[in-house]
Amino acid sequence: MATAGAETSELPIGVFDSGVGGLTVLSALRKRLPRERYIYLGDTARLPYGTKSRETIVRYALQAAEKLVERRIKLLVTACNTATAAALPDLRQAFAPLTVIGVVEPGARAACRVIAGKKEGGNILILGTESTVDGQAYTEAIHALRPDAVVRGVACTLFVSMAEEGWMTGPVIEITAARYLAPVIGPEAGQGRFLPDCIVLGCTHFPPLAGAVASVAGPEPVIIDSAETTAEAVEEELTRLNLLRPAGGPEDTPASDRFLTTDAPERFARVGGIFLNECLDPANVELVSLSFNPQTGPSAA
Ligand code: DGL
Repeated sequence: MATAGAETSELPIGVFDSGVGGLTVLSALRKRLPRERYIYLGDTARLPYGTKSRETIVRYALQAAEKLVERRIKLLVTACNTATAAALPDLRQAFAPLTVIGVVEPGARAACRVIAGKKEGGNILILGTESTVDGQAYTEAIHALRPDAVVRGVACTLFVSMAEEGWMTGPVIEITAARYLAPVIGPEAGQGRFLPDCIVLGCTHFPPLAGAVASVAGPEPVIIDSAETTAEAVEEELTRLNLLRPAGGPEDTPASDRFLTTDAPERFARVGGIFLNECLDPANVELVSLSFNPQTGPSAA
């Protein structure tokens, strides 16, 4: 749990995902809150989360969060739609009173902003992992804001492996995008063709593949992800808790982010560097193993 006071505001923000995908959220956080420090965990040993059962995803998410809480953090960002959709209530309960922010509600909010001008409905297409799409978390979050929106989901499982491979553009990605999307939004869908106003990249691995999605969807639908709205939610929450890292003073040094991974730090540094558009030093990526003991509960920060 976070301790109150000035000392707590100096603690880093914890961010986790199954792999490097959540670095898209870290980028948005760094941009919006450049004075903050971050500690990022990618559970690469057990990726992908999106094809696992809910029980397994909850267990993995609790273990990943526990590792970050152990390192002392002031707020936790679940930078994974799959983990948010399956485990957000469990995370909040296990680590209370630490604030845990997920990416689904911010993504839903961003989608509803796009259709805000529409008098009736608005078509929203969610691209996510199998678990996120099947669990309907986006549909519920969008309907809480806009009950008249029409929401469809398409699981794009292979996008995760492609992104983890560092493949963001090129024919393989475009063919894969067409294979997933054309039967739903392409002319071959015939009568049942869904014409989205907005496409939500509902997996944090997907933003670098937005170009391939656009090549199938055409110029009309607005393509969004939840990274920026998540960063907005984090800023709002830190402001409310009076935990923003203060400007000035002797402690005012440039942020030095830390990276943890559960497998192959060199690989994490190589592909993570592509996601962050910077050179990540493998020596700055720490190999960790995860466990969570429900008997003893989370460690105090
Ligand atoms: N990046 C994750 C998400 O946002 C999950 C990818 C995976 O492990 O399947 O859903």
